[in-house]
Amino acid sequence: MKIAMVGSGYVGLVSGACFADFGHEVICIDKDQAKIDSLNEGVMPIYEPGLAALMQSNVEAGRLSFTASLADGIAGAHAIFIAVGTPSRRGDGHADLSFVYAVAEEIGANLANDTVVVTKSTVPVGTGDAVERIISDSGASSERGHRVAVVSNPEFLREGAAIGDFKRPDRIVIGTEDEFGRDVMHEVYRPLFLNQSPILFTSRRSAELIKYAANAFLATKITFINEMADLCEKVGADVQDVSRGIGSDGRIGPKFLHAGPGYGGSCFPKDTLALLKTAEDAGSPSRIVEAVVKVNETRKRSMGRKVVDALGGTEAARGKKVALLGLTFKPNTDDMRDSPAIAVAQTLSDAGVRVVAYDPEGMKLARPLMLEVEMAYDPYAAIDGADAVVLVTEWDAFRALDLSRIKGLARTPVIVDLRNIYSPQTVREAGFTYISVGRA
Ligand code: UDX
Repeated sequence: MKIAMVGSGYVGLVSGACFADFGHEVICIDKDQAKIDSLNEGVMPIYEPGLAALMQSNVEAGRLSFTASLADGIAGAHAIFIAVGTPSRRGDGHADLSFVYAVAEEIGANLANDTVVVTKSTVPVGTGDAVERIISDSGASSERGHRVAVVSNPEFLREGAAIGDFKRPDRIVIGTEDEFGRDVMHEVYRPLFLNQSPILFTSRRSAELIKYAANAFLATKITFINEMADLCEKVGADVQDVSRGIGSDGRIGPKFLHAGPGYGGSCFPKDTLALLKTAEDAGSPSRIVEAVVKVNETRKRSMGRKVVDALGGTEAARGKKVALLGLTFKPNTDDMRDSPAIAVAQTLSDAGVRVVAYDPEGMKLARPLMLEVEMAYDPYAAIDGADAVVLVTEWDAFRALDLSRIKGLARTPVIVDLRNIYSPQTVREAGFTYISVGRA
């Protein structure tokens, strides 16, 4: 099959490379000519484990190519995926659909064969209807006589694990009421059906809502355990035991119950806000999601205050130095979007604390977002002379730090572990004051 992927960002490149690896002929399209030029030279615009190698082997096999011309790219495609960004609109939190609509118009204007247009971008309920209208207004079906179905096929990829998630999905959701759309999507995903991946055919609107509901539910789960962590600290309980205790109930499940500094990233913050807007507009407000958004926002700053307390309080903290380890919103990515580290660093800078940070992949993107933070070339350089070491992101490289070396380098032996990656006993035995999350 020939597949055109419009939008060569994170989702477009991962999906494009994986579809090519299944044996489809894939062309990734992006209006950014410079990005296409670098992709053609084998330079990756993003960091995702395994993606560079997967792309290279499929380019070499002649199944994956890149173009800046949408008209050329969609010619003869059996399926055209829209995988462009849907950021939060400034001011009201609604998803900004201008990129999706612009692509739909261009597809309509250039369509020259029967095809299925698939929205992979995360879009509010009803966007498929609007895309369908735009393409129909272009005359692609009426005047030029092409059969077109508009299908919703949300992605559930986690950054850092995206290729595995694509190839071994928990489920594939395909939203369409159109038989042609259904048949083409069947072919597109045939390799995964053979793999027995569960597939869910739904209405287009249900598919659009599933994506938001899934992310909002996960964000709720995280926020719930974060609140329990605060309570654990007050009543002398251990949140990791609480997580294990509730997570082994099959109805709750063990995943997404790690207490931490609050969720960040490219999806949860923006999708929860967009769902709130959709619910409000539909006259069915979501009080639960509203609370989750508020609690998570507050939490990121309160983690900064936790560090200030560890430094001895507001007065004592001024002028002290903190080593911030991990800046990205989670490990194995260079993505800084809505990372809790930004709010933690800001709270510390506001309190007059000098912040020196290190991250294995995120420092380039972090710099413009954290102007008051100094960057170090390795964890130990950041720790040199520090009054507290703060672990914000659980990179594997931070799981086995040399505690005796840290003890020698730091001015004061204090570790604030916002991801609970150390055993309190081990760190305390090594002579540190150890503060973690939800472990009294
Ligand atoms: C998420 C969804 O998992 C994915 O299905 C969707 O398509 C896009 O959004 P991603 O943003 O890559 O993926 O990150 P994820 O691994 O889900 O983590 C999101 C945030 O939640 C991170 O900041 C992470 O640190 C935090 N988190 C996650 C917790 O604090 N505790 C947990 O138990 C799990």
